[in-house]
Amino acid sequence: MQYDVILPAAGSGKRMGAGKNKLFLELKGKPILMHTLEIFERDAWCRGIYLAVKDSERAYIEQLLTQYNITKVKQMPTGGAERQHSVQSCMKAIAEGEIVLVHDAARPFMTAPTIHALAEAAFEKGAAIAGVRAKDTMKRVEAGVIQETVDRSTLWMIQTPQAFRFDVLKRAEDNAERDGFLGTDESMLVEREGVDVHIVESSYENVKITTKEDLVFGEAILNQRIGG
Ligand code: CTP
Ligand code: MG
Repeated sequence: MQYDVILPAAGSGKRMGAGKNKLFLELKGKPILMHTLEIFERDAWCRGIYLAVKDSERAYIEQLLTQYNITKVKQMPTGGAERQHSVQSCMKAIAEGEIVLVHDAARPFMTAPTIHALAEAAFEKGAAIAGVRAKDTMKRVEAGVIQETVDRSTLWMIQTPQAFRFDVLKRAEDNAERDGFLGTDESMLVEREGVDVHIVESSYENVKITTKEDLVFGEAILNQRIGG
């Protein structure tokens, strides 16, 4: 099976507070962005990578692609103000496709088995997203006061990759754009089309590097993987 992957990388990393795009911070001496790109560069199922970037960072990223010998990047569309706009500009750059995955460039620990399970589920069912079961007791809170304890067995924490048949995501994005609808993930756009989105159980290691603590966690994951 083959898929194309969209990697939004045009954020600012405000919550990291590094004064630059957090994707350029290094884990074990390699920029986070390159860790993520290498996952897809090495996956034989990945046909092409569409990377949304800021114009001001384009030249530096091109240099990194050469340095790390990343060959599958087909286009680097300019990202938008919101993540959804960045993903959308990549979607517009893909002329035709069967399966498309959207994956945060800030999640460098995804593994091929989960990627393949997502691609296969999207091929069979139309839409499938990665997630993990909620671990803590979950309560709904309003104005600082508990309203109810929510049945945890039905709650999942959603990650990326999110995988779709090309036509399913295309229609959902076109309609979201037409309606001025902004979602926090691609699944939300597809859900509002009435399409069933399936879950593929992923790993708690698939963190999104967001704040400083995540860098410590990320180094630990890499150390454990190399047996260090
Ligand atoms: N992203 C993007 N375009 C945007 C905003 C985000 O391509 N306008 C990308 C980020 O580069 C990241 C992914 O979407 O790879 C997930 O976003 P997030 O983790 O929120 O990263 P940032 O937006 O950069 O961080 P922050 O929200 O803390 O500013
Ligand atoms: Mg953000």
